[in-house]
Amino acid sequence: MTKPKFETSDGTAENIAKLAELFPGVITEGKVNVDALRTYVGEEIFKDEAYEFTWVGKREAVREAGRPIRKTLRPCPEESKNWDTTENLYIEGGNLDVLKLLQESYLGKVKMIYIDPPYNTGNDFIYRDNFTQSREDYEDESGMYNEEGDRLFKNTETNGRFHSDWCSMMYPRLVLARNLLSNDGVIFISIDDNEVAQLRKICDEVFGESNFVTNVIWQKKFSPQNDAKYFSQNHDNILCYAKSMTDFQRHFLPPTEEQINRYQNPDNDPRGVWTSGDCSVGRVTAKDIYPITTPSARKVYPSSGRSWSFPKENMEKLIADNRIWFGENGDNVPRVKRFFSETNQGLVPISIWYHDEVGHTQSASQDLKKLFDDVAYFDYPKPVGLIRKCLQIASNKDSIILDFFSGSSTTAHAVMQLNAEDMSAGQAGGGKRKFIMVQLPEACDEKSEAAKAGYRNICEIGKERIRRAGEKIVAEKPLDRAGLDIGFRVLKLDDTNMEDVYYAAGEYTQEMLKGMASNIKSDRSDMDLLFGCLLDWGLPLSLPHTQEVIDACQTGRHGTTIHTYNDGDLIACFADNVSESVVKEIAKRQPLRVVFRDSSFTSSPEKINVEEIFKHLAPNTKVRVI
Ligand SMILES: C[S@@+](CC[C@H](N)C(=O)[O-])C[C@H]1O[C@@H](n2cnc3c(N)ncnc32)[C@H](O)[C@@H]1O
Repeated sequence: MTKPKFETSDGTAENIAKLAELFPGVITEGKVNVDALRTYVGEEIFKDEAYEFTWVGKREAVREAGRPIRKTLRPCPEESKNWDTTENLYIEGGNLDVLKLLQESYLGKVKMIYIDPPYNTGNDFIYRDNFTQSREDYEDESGMYNEEGDRLFKNTETNGRFHSDWCSMMYPRLVLARNLLSNDGVIFISIDDNEVAQLRKICDEVFGESNFVTNVIWQKKFSPQNDAKYFSQNHDNILCYAKSMTDFQRHFLPPTEEQINRYQNPDNDPRGVWTSGDCSVGRVTAKDIYPITTPSARKVYPSSGRSWSFPKENMEKLIADNRIWFGENGDNVPRVKRFFSETNQGLVPISIWYHDEVGHTQSASQDLKKLFDDVAYFDYPKPVGLIRKCLQIASNKDSIILDFFSGSSTTAHAVMQLNAEDMSAGQAGGGKRKFIMVQLPEACDEKSEAAKAGYRNICEIGKERIRRAGEKIVAEKPLDRAGLDIGFRVLKLDDTNMEDVYYAAGEYTQEMLKGMASNIKSDRSDMDLLFGCLLDWGLPLSLPHTQEVIDACQTGRHGTTIHTYNDGDLIACFADNVSESVVKEIAKRQPLRVVFRDSSFTSSPEKINVEEIFKHLAPNTKVRVI
């Protein structure tokens, strides 16, 4: 029984529905493309035609990638693990801003990116980009907030720009991500059929059609979903693009257990296990048809229509080198031995990845649950085996791996897992891949198991997953894996360290400036400033640093704290009153870069000429004052 509507019918919707029936191609995102309709009714459209992919808001999305931001990453050692020694990063914040901040420090340095963005299934996609801000109406209806009170949006199919908004969300992120890839770098992007067509077009534009490597089909489910309306969707796509096809080198995959088992050594050949192959080819070449005498003294010829694979002299050499196998009794048709030790190239990866090899959605959820005392805190993680395979194909042992939609941190888990396996296999140097995870502190639904267990947002789950997975991996083989890097530095996206006056000094009068104690926000620590400087100067964020007090005692002073980053890549001093002897001491150490606070000198009793001191003692040091 249907309810009465108590309203007249929506004539526009009915007209659109009728047009859609006649001309399905003219309806996009629920609207009529009038130009397309005119072509259907024989009218000529006088517009420049070009083969291109476009959507509502594309121009803004392109601009978004280049729009400057005043943000920073604030270090958070108390939430980190092994801060002093780890080279891994966990960054909390919206990935658009984070990718912008990483542009200097990681430009061309990332070997592999794996991302698993929201698939745009109606409720999984939230975003907070500038280009949406003008759309007040829509904001009011669908606005939601993250922990910091920033408005986020859900993209539901009722949104008239359903696909367009998703494309606008992806485009600038992919542009920025591409900048971070090294020339031989690769990106893998998981996606299902909702947006695969759009994603492929965007990637063709961002990475270049010629850099398309493959579309991997991953069998994510192993049994049919019998209540599916049309087809049971049992696969996902993983689009793979290289930064530059000419520089990209994919690795071979190590052989599976089953493949290794095909190799044996019935004659105890010192070269190790082998398998055998046919010694003849399917063509007739008179000179390659000759008798071979078996060890049992039988003469054999290639079968009719075939020739031996090698000329007579080569065959004799192979026989002399015990590379031809005549069977246990020495009486069989000859076969050529292929040694495992000589086929070290491994296997060419294929574009279909089956669940029994890389895992499926259910096994991924189960594995994650096991790590968290059998409770499901995160829906739909990817299997570790899936990302591990991407890493095997496209990363080197010391590569930087980035995932900027990191969710429960499966990518970090896969990086630690593969590094550990390399260590256990005794491979030179072990695995030293480093990860960078980026994740929005998206609040956990208050009714979820995660929230009940005290995880306020997805970052808290992601960080805990890395802690637990790392401990577990080491515990499996504690002797082999003692040196494995299972730590991570936590950094959080925040507003810039600088007061507005820093950016707009020209608009302030000298009087106003004098009234301000500092152009740095009062809640910022030395560490905040240090990491802000690293981003500004384009230094990686995972290098060692020390803090020491110099210039103490002799003068009765308490001393001045200085920070040395990576053995002199940068020395920073943010103290209030910096004396000349401190400046000289720093200069004597000849760091590559040095940074002071502007206010350190304005309040200094001796107005020090820092520039002169450095010119004299360390002419190659670059000096900045913030
Ligand atoms: C499909 S999940 C990734 C799952 C992940 N591959 C795993 O195995 O756990 C996508 C993640 O991206 C996050 N996300 C969505 N928009 C984001 C944004 N703008 N910045 C950072 N993370 C975002 C979501 O919170 C979600 O956790």
